[in-house]
Amino acid sequence: MPVAKQTEIGPAEGKLGVLLVGLGAVSTTFIAGVEAIKKGFAQPIGSLTQMGTIRLGKRTENRVPLIKDFVPLAQLKDLVFGAWDIFPDSAYDAALNAGVLEKELLGQLKEPLRKIKPMKAVFDQTYVKRLSGTNVKTGKNKFELAQQLIDEIAEWKKKNKCSRLVMIWAASTEIFLKPHAVHKTIDSFEQAMRDNHKAIAPSMVYAYAALKSGIPFANGAPNLTVDIPALMTLADKNKLAICGKDFKTGQTLMKTIIAPGLKSRMLGLHGWYSTNILGNRDGEVLDDPDSFKTKEESKLSVLEYILQPEVYPTLYKDFSHVVRINYYPPRGDNKEGWDNIDIFGWLGYKMQIKIDFLCRDSILAAPIVLDLALFLDLAQRAGMKGVQEWLSFYFKSPQTAPGLYPEHDIFIQLMKLKNTLRHLRGEDLITHLGLEYYD
Ligand SMILES: NC(=O)c1ccc[n+]([C@@H]2O[C@H](COP(=O)([O-])OP(=O)(O)OC[C@H]3O[C@@H](n4cnc5c(N)ncnc54)[C@H](O)[C@@H]3O)[C@@H](O)[C@H]2O)c1
Repeated sequence: MPVAKQTEIGPAEGKLGVLLVGLGAVSTTFIAGVEAIKKGFAQPIGSLTQMGTIRLGKRTENRVPLIKDFVPLAQLKDLVFGAWDIFPDSAYDAALNAGVLEKELLGQLKEPLRKIKPMKAVFDQTYVKRLSGTNVKTGKNKFELAQQLIDEIAEWKKKNKCSRLVMIWAASTEIFLKPHAVHKTIDSFEQAMRDNHKAIAPSMVYAYAALKSGIPFANGAPNLTVDIPALMTLADKNKLAICGKDFKTGQTLMKTIIAPGLKSRMLGLHGWYSTNILGNRDGEVLDDPDSFKTKEESKLSVLEYILQPEVYPTLYKDFSHVVRINYYPPRGDNKEGWDNIDIFGWLGYKMQIKIDFLCRDSILAAPIVLDLALFLDLAQRAGMKGVQEWLSFYFKSPQTAPGLYPEHDIFIQLMKLKNTLRHLRGEDLITHLGLEYYD
């Protein structure tokens, strides 16, 4: 029985518009997947919101509803998709081009996918060196471009008869940017947009436009984007949910599953060498050292935080961690990730673990986009503003409140997510203590 107070959550009535920045491999695989599921061609495999359950109360109570029956989420039939891209291809052509899904499946989804035509992007090649496209907005400065986005979003919402919107960055990884003084306050950020300051990347212009339009924002790439004081303040001020960064798929997903296991058994680590071959457009963009640096920072932080070398120096001090991504066109989206893990056990005896993960990047990322869209919308209706740390489960470098270290262990992240849902519904949090069964 619920004991705590339930949070008031607005109903998921009407259409939810999912605005995607970037209509590439991840976005089209997500949209096509939702359309296929709606038509009954497929199951939402990989999606916690659609397939996951949540245990409530004691183990003896047998209360294990589906998450989507426990909290009021938008239904798939109510999702509408919009996107921006620097290429004018429809979602159908972009999906064919991405080469993730089979032509035959896409053929059956031609009608809904063809209707999704990308709006003109806010783009500047300084921030993504390997790309150039024609479907790009022009404007006097970055502030004016943001105003264009704000007007466009309002128009899109009206035209598509949506009651609510969420925005997700699924566009290319931008070059590595450090936090700058102009990112500190909303005023300095706006002035910097007017001055066309270099520290304002296109992804920040979209995030600003979303937050000014009352829309929650998630960042699926490792770019700084919404992880700066000015935009965090704006989210707080406008009572909007934000989260990021960098969808947790492939190799990092494996790392955050395996590293907590090694640590739980007090096994030591000498080194972890990770390399990938990848041939899609994301791989091409990441072939540029400046974009790769952004990705590398995101991928490297994971082990340090999970293994806590300062707490366990005997086991984890000075382990070597290397991450490489190699652009190799023949593989397309079907990445191969190798990991060589040098561990040591009892009496310091050495052992090795080898992982060869033949994964499909966008197949792993698409359900994350779906879950984030639905959970962000839920957070918004539940009045949850600012950084949504409970959504760390989905990210390689989870955004946290300033000064707080991120939690990377996937099992802690999942417990945090589910306890947040229990908390929202006034259910007991589950600690797994379980003493009551033995009283
Ligand atoms: N696939 C995964 O598993 C995964 C995991 C984590 C993060 N990501 C990140 O998600 C993003 C998308 O990945 P993808 O495989 O779909 O890449 P992709 O190259 O197929 O698609 C990205 C799209 O974004 C567009 N784009 C670039 N800059 C833009 C801008 N300023 N405005 C609008 N559109 C813009 C590009 O034209 C391209 O079509 C990348 O940043 C990638 O690093 C992907």
